[in-house]
Order: sequence, then structure tokens, then C-alpha cells
Amino acid sequence: MPIIITIDGPSGAGKGTISRMLAKKLGFHYLDSGALYRLLGLAAERHRVATDNTKALITLAEHMDIRFETTSDGDFKSLLEGEDVTKAMRTETTASLASQVASHLNVRAALLKRQQHFATDPGLIADGRDMGTVVFPDAALKIYLTASIEERAQRRYKELLEKGEDVSLPALVEQVRSRDERDMSRDASPLIPAADAVELDTSELSIQEVMDTVLNLTVVKGLFASIHQ
Ligand code: DC
Repeated sequence: MPIIITIDGPSGAGKGTISRMLAKKLGFHYLDSGALYRLLGLAAERHRVATDNTKALITLAEHMDIRFETTSDGDFKSLLEGEDVTKAMRTETTASLASQVASHLNVRAALLKRQQHFATDPGLIADGRDMGTVVFPDAALKIYLTASIEERAQRRYKELLEKGEDVSLPALVEQVRSRDERDMSRDASPLIPAADAVELDTSELSIQEVMDTVLNLTVVKGLFASIHQ
């Protein structure tokens, strides 16, 4: 049985960074479920499917041709219909499309099995919004990462600037706020911590401090006898 660790929370809380580091450290697989919703948003845009056309979105979700690859320097690459869309996927426009297609319950259901197939030995780090509540309710360890809106927008700002995107901080705060609102208030699997999740506010913590806390939790939960940090 693969060991499953879920890391949920709003955008910019540090889930991606921590999940990737943790997967590498433990030698586990990694599921970036947000990437699936982003790829679906992009596929919908490319095939001119409206974000409220649930029937067509379900067909796309079930059949879209997607691939994740790891490059020789350890970076993750995403391919949609054979095309490298890694950069297009990370824009705020795609994030908003993802959040819109993700708001329909039956579209989410169409992606459920695809996500669960990532759970293979020795284990999986599952990063998203509903990993601990819906996709892997029996996960061995559930973490819910948060940070203040300002801190999360600031992190996104730095990340996008580094990627050469032209962004404004106040506009990002607004985008983060409206995406939070849509993700948290939707009827279908809203973003909430699982009842048995450990909540961690990362606003004042360094990446290493978050990593150390999560690694300690895996030991406390009895998943490993000890981990040499
Ligand atoms: O984690 P992210 O920023 O890449 O996610 C993009 C959007 O996808 C997010 O705003 C909501 C949606 N999403 C979701 O509904 N459920 C998930 N498990 C992951 C992402």
C-alpha cells in the first residue's frame, strides 16, 4: 500500500515548493492536482469550450492528452497534446480558467480517477485543494498550509517577476482574493481543511522551517522511524 501524504491549502501558501521537496526527500511520487485543472482550463480555451459547458468539459477531462515529465535538471514539464505548456500553465489567466472549470462537481468527478491513479508505491505527495477531503480521504498524513493573503500575493509576485511576467502587486492581491473566494465558497469540494488535517500557517516561516515541521509530523505519525534532516 503506498503511503499518501496530502498537502492542501490556498494558492501561494507554499504547497508546490514543499510538496516537491518532500517528494524528493522521501523518494515519493508527486501529484500536482492544480496542474490537472490548469491543463483542463487551457484545453478548454484551445478547443473553444466555455467554462460553464460542463458536458464538453467532462469529455475533455476524461480524454485530454496530458503528460508530466521531469527534465534532467529536476524541473517538471507539462505537455498538452504533445505541446510543452509549462509556461502558459503558470499565468494568472490560466489559474483563473482552472478555478472556473474546477467549480463544477461533475467536472471534478471526471478528474477523480485520473488523480487517484498517481497513488503508487512507495508513496505519493498529493498537492491541491481537496486531496485530504475528497481524493485521498484515508491519507496517512494530511497537512493544510495557509498564509495571509498579502504574504501569498507577495510570493506569487516574486515568482511571476522571476519568470519575466509583467504584473502589479495590488492586482495580484485582488486576483488571489477572488480565486480564494471562488475556491472556498463553491458547493463542489470547497477548499476547507479536512477534519483530521494538521494546519500550518507559513506566513512567518521559512521554507526550511516548514519542511522540518512536516518531516517531524511524518515521524510523529509513525510513518518513518526517523528522518535525517
Ligand atoms: O494549485 P493551483 O493554483 O495550481 O490551482 C489552480 C486552480 O485549480 C485553483 O484555483 C482551484 C483549482 N483546483 C481545485 O479546485 N482542486 C484542486 N485539488 C487543485 C486545484
